Amino acid sequence: MQHLILLASLFSLSTASSDWCYPSQFSCTHQCKTPESWSQANSGCGGRAQSPINVVTRKALVDERLGPFTFHNYQQTFHSTIKNNGHSVQVSVNHLATVQGGELVTGYKAVQFHLHWGKDGGPGSEHTIDGEQYPMELHIVHMKKEYTDLSAALKDPNGVAVLGFFYEESRSANKKYDNIINAVQKITAPNSNTSLASISLDQLIPARQNLTTYYRYKGSLTTPGCTESVVWTLFEHTIPLSKEQLQVFSKLRFPNGEPMVGNFRPLQPLNGRMVYRSDAGALLASALLLMASVSVTLGLSQRR
Ligand SMILES: *[C@@H]1O[C@H](CO)[C@@H](O)[C@H](O)[C@H]1NC(C)=O
Ligand SMILES: *[C@@H]1O[C@H](CO)[C@@H](O)[C@H](O)[C@H]1NC(C)=O
Ligand SMILES: [Zn+2]
Repeated sequence: MQHLILLASLFSLSTASSDWCYPSQFSCTHQCKTPESWSQANSGCGGRAQSPINVVTRKALVDERLGPFTFHNYQQTFHSTIKNNGHSVQVSVNHLATVQGGELVTGYKAVQFHLHWGKDGGPGSEHTIDGEQYPMELHIVHMKKEYTDLSAALKDPNGVAVLGFFYEESRSANKKYDNIINAVQKITAPNSNTSLASISLDQLIPARQNLTTYYRYKGSLTTPGCTESVVWTLFEHTIPLSKEQLQVFSKLRFPNGEPMVGNFRPLQPLNGRMVYRSDAGALLASALLLMASVSVTLGLSQRR
């Protein structure tokens, strides 16, 4: 009998240790698979097109086909549930909201969004831009319209499109985030959830005219199984949140009771992949050049 109990407890220990986790979750009493070991249980995590990456802007290729996106129903308010899922906070999108354009060949519909963050507003984004790690990163996960569940979309090499947005600390609070921040304070316990009333995807992200500059590459989910079926879009324009608003996320708890902080995967090698940049910056630069040459011409003509 005692042997059985011992076996049972050994078994539960070994299953617990096969759980994946972030380094901030690892402790002597809770041993779990930190990112460098994810590929042991999920071979996908050892692939050659993994995310996140550092974007070196100087090496990003300008692609003039990367035009503006068309968003449908992003402005529509909806009611949902916000959940502490043990790794992040996640909100399912339960109405039809789609994104198209920006070289996304077909429409993609929003499935859920979640966040990755640091400790008390410190560095915490998954992707970095020229080595800069932002305090938090929003992932709005979409799948091709033809699919009804994410697992089917993940079998398609272009089945999933994630829109990634970076946050930046601002002096004043971002009122558009009030209901999310209030809800997060109610789900500090792992696996708890609460209702989230009247939010829209638009209210979470920068205004349309500020969404024309972005980076594009092919990568993976940043959590196990790390499936390589994601078309990534990373927007240059950041979302402002005050330090107090950012700090609220550090009050969440991992299942082992530790503060849920540092829930970002370490950077992955590019392995020869290309990163593309939308044309908006180049357009702006040529407009500035044009203005400069016009003013030079005017200056010359005035001197005559
Ligand atoms: C929210 O929590 C309740 C109570 O634990 C549970 O019954 C319900 O299934 C949860 N809902 C979601 C969407 O996780
Ligand atoms: C777009 O970005 C600029 C520069 O950061 C900012 O001044 C402007 O307010 C933004 N537009 C909107 C509508 O948020
Ligand atoms: Zn994510």
